[in-house]
Amino acid sequence: MTESPEIPIADAASAADTQAENAPIAVITGASRGIGEATAQHFMAKGWRIITCSREDIAERQEKYPLWMAHIPTDLSHRSSTEHFVERAKEVLQGQALQALVNNAAISPKTAFKERLGCLNGDLNHWASVFELNFFAPLLLCRGLAAPLARAKGAVVNITSIAGHAIHPFAGSAYSTSKAGLSALTRELAVEFGQLGVRVNAVSPGEIETAMLTPEYEALVPRIPLQKLGEPQDVAATIYWLCAPESRYISGTEIFVTGGQHVY
Ligand SMILES: NC(=O)c1ccc[n+]([C@@H]2O[C@H](COP(=O)([O-])OP(=O)(O)OC[C@H]3O[C@@H](n4cnc5c(N)ncnc54)[C@H](OP(=O)(O)O)[C@@H]3O)[C@@H](O)[C@H]2O)c1
Repeated sequence: MTESPEIPIADAASAADTQAENAPIAVITGASRGIGEATAQHFMAKGWRIITCSREDIAERQEKYPLWMAHIPTDLSHRSSTEHFVERAKEVLQGQALQALVNNAAISPKTAFKERLGCLNGDLNHWASVFELNFFAPLLLCRGLAAPLARAKGAVVNITSIAGHAIHPFAGSAYSTSKAGLSALTRELAVEFGQLGVRVNAVSPGEIETAMLTPEYEALVPRIPLQKLGEPQDVAATIYWLCAPESRYISGTEIFVTGGQHVY
């Protein structure tokens, strides 16, 4: 067997740079914590470059990772801020193709008294801001980034929720209906983006241990067939798989990452 020639250190470094230059790119929203942060880490561990946003500026954390191209502080519940994010992301892309868009950022508002926010007690302006972030921001990002996604024949993953499919004891009505809308939007997008060669799917988490969960969620564990809460990494790995070439013939589908809870 012939041994491969030793590469001088300087050349090895530039080879790594060249690899990074050609690495696929994902835009991930809500990457400052929880499922979004785990997803950002998972994509980088697989050698992808990422562009992210959240309201919090996490530039200091981002600088440690060469594959983290940019974190752009953005409030996706304000349309002008979302449009600004699209423009900045395109500047960062500099005409390069975009292999994945992960619409993850969302809120599930609670009342001060932990009362469920229902149809009768919720302020309508509050409903509108939930829909702006959970439903309209994914639509705006898909529209705004359609051209670079088409260039890569890439993939979109929308993070929906088990609460969009059945009444949930703690998630409010505005949240649940915005997520049901996002599930329907995923189907609509799959048809329109299919013509661009772009796949669109959804991942629907159950009870995942993040800041979104409050202690009373523990009471739901007996209703989860796998008898435990999920971890952000469980969702991140599924999102990644839906963006990877292994799922190249999958579009318009929704994968439940619930430990089986959605069967009830
Ligand atoms: N955890 C669960 O059990 C569960 C279950 C079903 C579905 N999900 C879905 O999974 C996704 C992630 O949830 P998570 O549990 O990881 O939530 P999380 O821990 O609360 O994180 C939410 C992320 O979204 C960002 N975000 C919130 N409001 C934003 C805004 N206006 N503009 C831009 N970014 C904003 C947050 O950053 P900033 O605060 O810095 O903006 C944060 O990075 C959501 O779509 C959620 O609906 C979660």
